[in-house]
Amino acid sequence: MSTKNKISDQPVRFPKDFLWGSAISAHQTEGNNVNSDWWAWENSAGRAAALKARGKSLEDHRSGEACDFYHRYDSDFALAESLNQNAIRISVEWARIEPKSGEWRGEEVRHYVEVLKSAQKHGLKTFVTLFHFTLPLWFAESGGFAQPGNVDRFVAYVEKLAAKLDPYVDFWLTLNEPEIYTSHAYYFGIYPPQHKSLRESFRVVNNLIAAHRRTYAVLKKQSTKPVGLAYHLLDVVAVNVLSSFNRLFFHYVANEYVLNRTVKFCDFIGVNYYNHVHLAWWGRRMQSQSRHETSDLGWGIHPEGIERVLVGLKRYRKPVYITENGVADAADTRREKFIKDHLRYVQRAIARGVNVRGYLHWSLIDNFEWHHGFRPRFGLVAVDYATQKRTVRDSARAYASICKNNSLSA
Ligand code: FCB
Repeated sequence: MSTKNKISDQPVRFPKDFLWGSAISAHQTEGNNVNSDWWAWENSAGRAAALKARGKSLEDHRSGEACDFYHRYDSDFALAESLNQNAIRISVEWARIEPKSGEWRGEEVRHYVEVLKSAQKHGLKTFVTLFHFTLPLWFAESGGFAQPGNVDRFVAYVEKLAAKLDPYVDFWLTLNEPEIYTSHAYYFGIYPPQHKSLRESFRVVNNLIAAHRRTYAVLKKQSTKPVGLAYHLLDVVAVNVLSSFNRLFFHYVANEYVLNRTVKFCDFIGVNYYNHVHLAWWGRRMQSQSRHETSDLGWGIHPEGIERVLVGLKRYRKPVYITENGVADAADTRREKFIKDHLRYVQRAIARGVNVRGYLHWSLIDNFEWHHGFRPRFGLVAVDYATQKRTVRDSARAYASICKNNSLSA
């Protein structure tokens, strides 16, 4: 890193009214999401056999009761408040509200009203995601987002839901990471339905783009709240001139394909930043892990990438919220530095004219990390899954003082 790019350790202040908080999603925290496609997959014979073959524990890879957030939201929000946070990102689980096609569970909508009221009571602005990787099983079985006709069902669901929930929502997020969902579920064969097809991936991503645009239109008709999308943005770096062309291509596929087709239909841009990718001239992806620290999941830690990602958004002239950024770190030896380093680069992006208005750390509490199961620990607050006891990590206290002061001291 050249000295020009070195971050200073001078105190940095954030803009007035900056939002400070954390993010979670329904399936990963609530528990017993029994009518969803993920639940069916986690409990399927095929999944059990695949885990067994790899010597992995079944229990660790079934969401089960998860963090029991479905019942513990009020005390978890109280924790967020005690850590000086003023914003929270959650998602609403469609599979609970419409467990069978056409069967509407009003009591589950009321549950989410209670959840959001509780967040407000604890002084938290609410970011509400409508699709965060999980689907009702009936919808998935009818082809999920691979079927263009299914987009109607999603939009109809959102329309009906928003009529009740909107008064308690401060920011709507239509979709979480359409790029990651599509690639993991339809190209790499990792998430259910574990397909591996480039053609189908295109179909799905295009249907998700349509779903976003139509959801945006429907929400704008009935709501005055800002609507955005949580993009997964990769910092793609070329190692030399020869790989620049590859960089453009990779950057286009990973970031711009969805962004360019949806950003016009966003009042703000949600950024989920985790990764940085180096491309060698022959196009191979290199993580350059040897030179960098990594998380418990082996993901390289590259705080400088968040500045490049943010500055790349400047041309869209939209407010930006960091809707996710975090690290799997069970020992909590890297999280405090991770947060501070990323925030220094966020601050540099702000100084370069990017309108960043908030930072939501992933995650408030440890939770079910999709196909990796319960092992990765992303929480500011540790969860003992046997007892559901919450323990505030030291890094959470360091973050709490940043939230309180709206600034980062040396
Ligand atoms: C993001 C997901 C989120 C969580 C983090 C670690 O891609 O949106 O649910 O799993 O990664």
